[in-house]
Amino acid sequence: MSEIVVSTWAFGERANVPAWEILKTGGSALDAVVAGVSVAEKDPEVKSVGYGGYPNADGEVEVDAAVMDGRNLGYGSVVALKNIDVPTAVARDVMEKTDHVMLAGEGALAFGRSQGYSEREMLTDGSRKAWEEWKAGRSGRPTDSHDTIGMVALDQSGDIAAACTTSGLGFKMKGRVGDSPLIGSGLYADNEVGAAAATGRGEEIARVCGSFLIV
Ligand code: GLY
Repeated sequence: MSEIVVSTWAFGERANVPAWEILKTGGSALDAVVAGVSVAEKDPEVKSVGYGGYPNADGEVEVDAAVMDGRNLGYGSVVALKNIDVPTAVARDVMEKTDHVMLAGEGALAFGRSQGYSEREMLTDGSRKAWEEWKAGRSGRPTDSHDTIGMVALDQSGDIAAACTTSGLGFKMKGRVGDSPLIGSGLYADNEVGAAAATGRGEEIARVCGSFLIV
């Protein structure tokens, strides 16, 4: 079967590169999407995902991420996670190493630590400046503040996987969770049917289970 990878937004093109390398050398769709989206997660210029993402209203970067394995409807996610710049990899560990599907906040961070992930300050000077301007009432919410990266891949074995990862709506309420880490909303993958991932205002996507609806 011919391999395929698709992702959202212009920054998704850079994320597709390592995913494509994995797929064309016979690797799994799951490995491809986790490696692919990590490019956007670690890129400080992508203000809507991971490191350097816009913070919440309190000035803290809280990220949401999920993966789904179309072979067996495996699903793992983290929500309101701080200080780890590869949340999708942690979400995969939730799927593969626990018997849960979602870990939140402090629990997600503690689990990430237990798996050996290193911690860093996720707020960059650029994102802090944007938040300070917003806080002072000098600017509104940035238009790119919910440009989530969603990625779906099909590998040579015919297996499919999806990933979705975001720092969420810029200057959101502390603890707000959008569609990205929610199965059926930010992503869905089922080998028997297909896969989809979503980008946009999470509240709108979540209320219609957008990705499940499409699949
Ligand atoms: N779609 C990302 C979010 O609204 O959090």
